Amino acid sequence: MMKLQNLATLVALVPYALGFPRLENFPEYRSLAGLSPREVRAVARTFSSTPGAQSLPPPISDTSAKVVYDSEHPYIPDQPGDIRGPCPGLNTLASHGYLPRNGVATPAQIITAVQEGFNMGWNVASLVTYMTFIVDGNHLTNLMSIGANTTADDEPTPGLNIHFNVEGDASTTRGDFYFGNNYSFNETLFDQLEEAANRVGNGFITIESASLHRALRINDSITRNPTFWFGSPRFVAAYLETTVPLAFFVNNQTLDTTLNLTLDVARDFYEKHRFPEGFVRRQGPFDVAEVEFMFAKIFPLINVPPGHNEGVGNYVVNPEDDGSSCYVYHRQVNLTAQLYPNPTPELEVAIKANLVTFYQTLHNSSCEQYFPYGQ
Ligand code: HEM
Ligand SMILES: *[C@@H]1O[C@H](CO)[C@@H](O)[C@H](O)[C@H]1NC(C)=O
Ligand SMILES: *[C@@H]1O[C@H](CO)[C@@H](O)[C@H](O)[C@H]1NC(C)=O
Ligand SMILES: *[C@@H]1O[C@H](CO)[C@@H](O)[C@H](O)[C@H]1NC(C)=O
Ligand SMILES: *[C@@H]1O[C@H](CO)[C@@H](O)[C@H](O)[C@H]1NC(C)=O
Ligand SMILES: *[C@@H]1O[C@H](CO)[C@@H](O)[C@H](O)[C@H]1NC(C)=O
Ligand SMILES: *[C@@H]1O[C@H](CO)[C@@H](O)[C@H](O)[C@H]1NC(C)=O
Ligand SMILES: *[C@@H]1O[C@H](CO)[C@@H](O)[C@H](O)[C@H]1NC(C)=O
Ligand SMILES: *[C@@H]1O[C@H](CO)[C@@H](O)[C@H](O)[C@H]1NC(C)=O
Repeated sequence: MMKLQNLATLVALVPYALGFPRLENFPEYRSLAGLSPREVRAVARTFSSTPGAQSLPPPISDTSAKVVYDSEHPYIPDQPGDIRGPCPGLNTLASHGYLPRNGVATPAQIITAVQEGFNMGWNVASLVTYMTFIVDGNHLTNLMSIGANTTADDEPTPGLNIHFNVEGDASTTRGDFYFGNNYSFNETLFDQLEEAANRVGNGFITIESASLHRALRINDSITRNPTFWFGSPRFVAAYLETTVPLAFFVNNQTLDTTLNLTLDVARDFYEKHRFPEGFVRRQGPFDVAEVEFMFAKIFPLINVPPGHNEGVGNYVVNPEDDGSSCYVYHRQVNLTAQLYPNPTPELEVAIKANLVTFYQTLHNSSCEQYFPYGQ
């Protein structure tokens, strides 16, 4: 009789035996997009659990300003094998144990961690997490990585780095995909963030300096990157990423985000993925109303609508893209249907349920709901 151990070995070898060497040791957090039904079945047999789609976690109850760099959340730099990615917020939460330190998490863990660690509002946290998870995550295991595996020498596992989604061009401290798909911190770009602060922020990162830096980054991409793409959700994310350092990286930030950010503190987050000593999260959540308040301030200063380059220097605006959450939802649903044209029955059940959860994060019954796999 076959021993259980041998059976496990056999199961692990299935993808290999079927001739899919690229699926050997397929990580549980890697997106299943692009795999055939046969490949999905083969890798799914190697997963230790497949919990499938989950519902949203409840909002946290205490949203006061409090010390979040405490003895229960020490800073430990990432170890070999730990995953870090393009988001300094999530990277920092992983380095302090608000997220699993290996950088692999469920949507619920991310939604809860960004509230606990930074006081991101529950509505915004749920929306941003699901709009990302739906196309970057693994629907069968309900896991997502917060970036690339920095120690992998084989094909990197993209996670949040999937391009043309939330990850995209004209980033604050990282180069465009076209110039090398680099999710790493870039000192030259950080220096430019500092120059903008010196020019219009008295040496601080302010609404004006952050907006100036973004406008310059966008102009740089327009003039040099023939593949520059700045449609939603990237468009929305880029504007959001202009405001969130002010909203979240300032110690004990006020409810209406009046305090400015020092470059030293910004570097702690962007480069080192760590809270400054004794860091106090903001006073109350940064949710939909707070985002809109900040957007109203930065839109006129940046003033580039959603669009893309058709050849260097030729930026073409997309009039259908209004950057609204309804539009972002529709675009992500379309993309999901393209990524999974022929899912296995199990995968289809999970994707359908996750699309329903994503729709719920909009909290707007006026947005049309879509069912690419039927109701
Ligand atoms: C709610 C879940 C979140 C998800 C799924 C997420 C995802 C991402 C992704 C994919 C990017 C890369 C976009 C690009 O190409 O520029 C990014 C960038 C960024 N995120 Fe997050 N994020 C989340 C929460 C947060 C939080 C809570 C903060 C701040 C505390 C934050 C701060 C930033 C900043 C500042 C950037 C821009 C980095 C740069 O351009 O150098 N994010 N995020
Ligand atoms: C945060 O700042 C407020 C004043 O804006 C102060 O009353 C409060 O004690 C501070 N909270 C912490 C935890 O330092
Ligand atoms: C990252 O890659 C390394 C080398 O391939 C591997 O040993 C490690 O297990 C991976 N870590 C994760 C979290 O996948
Ligand atoms: C990414 O940046 C790092 C350091 O910032 C550099 O060592 C690496 O070669 C870059 N990779 C690519 C693909 O550009
Ligand atoms: C950093 O960005 C600058 C300016 O875009 C670029 O010239 C340089 O090659 C980038 N460095 C790395 C390591 O990617
Ligand atoms: C970006 O380019 C546009 C068009 O050339 C120009 O009007 C605008 O002033 C530039 N923005 C910045 C911040 O230099
Ligand atoms: C932050 O910078 C702005 C300039 O953008 C300035 O008007 C404001 O007074 C600064 N806020 C504080 C609290 O220093
Ligand atoms: C989604 O797909 C439909 C059907 O192909 C198309 O009409 C619509 O414009 C797409 N919407 C977005 C936001 O991508
Ligand atoms: C809800 O969606 C409708 C339809 O797109 C839009 O007009 C409205 O502004 C949205 N409401 C909110 C509160 O975002």
